[in-house]
Amino acid sequence: MATPDCILLTGAAGYIASHTWLALQDAGYTVVGVDSFVNSSPVVLDRLREIGGQPIHFVQGDVRDPAVLDRCFELGQTVGGIKAVVHFAALKAVGESVERPLDYFENNLGSLLAVSQAMQRHGVFDLVFSSSATVYGEPERLPITEDAPLRATNPYGQTKLVGEELLRSLVACDARWHVACLRYFNPVGAHPSGRIGEDPRGIPNNLMPYVAQVAVGKRPHLNVFGNDYDTPDGTGVRDYIHVCDLAEGHVAAVRYLGEQQRSVTVNLGTGQGYSVVQLAQAYGRAAGREIPLVFAPRRTGDVAACYADPALAQRLLGWSARRGLDDMCVDSWRWQSTNPGGFEG
Ligand code: UD1
Repeated sequence: MATPDCILLTGAAGYIASHTWLALQDAGYTVVGVDSFVNSSPVVLDRLREIGGQPIHFVQGDVRDPAVLDRCFELGQTVGGIKAVVHFAALKAVGESVERPLDYFENNLGSLLAVSQAMQRHGVFDLVFSSSATVYGEPERLPITEDAPLRATNPYGQTKLVGEELLRSLVACDARWHVACLRYFNPVGAHPSGRIGEDPRGIPNNLMPYVAQVAVGKRPHLNVFGNDYDTPDGTGVRDYIHVCDLAEGHVAAVRYLGEQQRSVTVNLGTGQGYSVVQLAQAYGRAAGREIPLVFAPRRTGDVAACYADPALAQRLLGWSARRGLDDMCVDSWRWQSTNPGGFEG
């Protein structure tokens, strides 16, 4: 039997990467992971070993350090040789990025450059880049197609936009490179085992982790940021996507790069928007308890509605999301209720 292809994941202990690790293994790939644990826990690796039943190939370190990446490629040599890289490692909090813009530029763009340079050194040219629907800014038209105007409204978004642009330029200059830019909508939920999930530090910025902490009794109520938007119930509408669907989108992108030898930029969303109130109600059903809501002012920088046209990903990658809002809530609740203190609780 041929050796399975080996894929390097940066930021491998993070929320989306850890789910992608399992999805890649399920699809027959070998994974090498690298993470500094600056915003994740080493316990994730024990859980991945437990769920996946396979050995964990892992390097601890910051991917801005070329020696760390060289160690990853050397480790890859022992398991068939790395064929592609999925680059997740990045800082991702919008508010923090406004407070510390230089840290965001340094970290997110520095790591992208270091990863690309290491790939070139080791003769690997297939790269999947974690981008975000944030590159669309305030959308002019819904659902959002990939040819919509691009603009960033904060330093975090800027790093994604500039990251994409750097990669498109690289592809245009050097035909060896094939890059998939994946524009994530709102990833939520957890692995159905309940053993891995999102574990934000401090007060969650994002909606579902906050709702999960209300459901588990850590916080008294959900602050609903704005109920006067031009949406059916006045609250913000987003395209929530189950993290396992998103993970499978990465597998499809890795496969596409290997088979088609072409670059691609696609939305990874469901195409279906839900409001804050709809999500809180669905979560309440999953958890068997009501989520108390308190209406609060709009959050600066928020848009009324944002949801994907996912047709291009379906057409090019043969991928589409399969899980619905109730699956997202049930799986999130399983993770949250059995790990109320997160990985290290
Ligand atoms: C946010 C980021 C986006 C990033 C994404 C990552 C902002 C302005 N945008 O997107 O750049 O790519 O996370 O997942 O931070 N809400 C509440 N109460 C809360 C939290 C959120 O009502 O306590 C509402 C928001 O106003 C919004 C919706 O829930 O309408 C979703 O918010 P969130 O989960 O933070 O995602 P985005 O704002 O879409």
